[in-house]
Amino acid sequence: MKNNNFDIQIESLIVFVAEDILRSAGMQSERQYLHHGTVTCYEHSVRVAYMSAYIALRLCLPVNMRSLLRGALLHDYFLYDWHETDKSHRFHGFIHAKRALEKASLDFELSEMEQDIISKHMFPLNPKPPKYLESVVVLVADKICAISELLYGR
Ligand SMILES: [Fe+2]
Ligand SMILES: [Fe+2]
Repeated sequence: MKNNNFDIQIESLIVFVAEDILRSAGMQSERQYLHHGTVTCYEHSVRVAYMSAYIALRLCLPVNMRSLLRGALLHDYFLYDWHETDKSHRFHGFIHAKRALEKASLDFELSEMEQDIISKHMFPLNPKPPKYLESVVVLVADKICAISELLYGR
């Protein structure tokens, strides 16, 4: 990834609060699903976690860093390739946040804040607004990463 001290600190933070998620079979399975262009769902999720921490630290936002990072890593935990033609993949943009929350809830103990981060990350496409600052940070980070990945493949 990157190699200055700030980047290394964020990467260490992610591993410190979410090593169980990173090592889980579900999260590892995201490596096989392309998400935006050539970027896999796993790479995208780690990038969103990194960007969320970056925004929070640079702006000195009073966030719960553990929930911020865990929610960010799990925000797209729907576990399928949404590009594959399948009836169940229709309306992906509208339904995948709910599916991600359902699957993440089966595999991990989620706080109310983490549930909100996952279920609200597609606001305003999903009209229910975020309840926490952490959810807003992740949805902004997700949009920045998605645009960058679609335009530049990274
Ligand atoms: Fe998403
Ligand atoms: Fe995403």
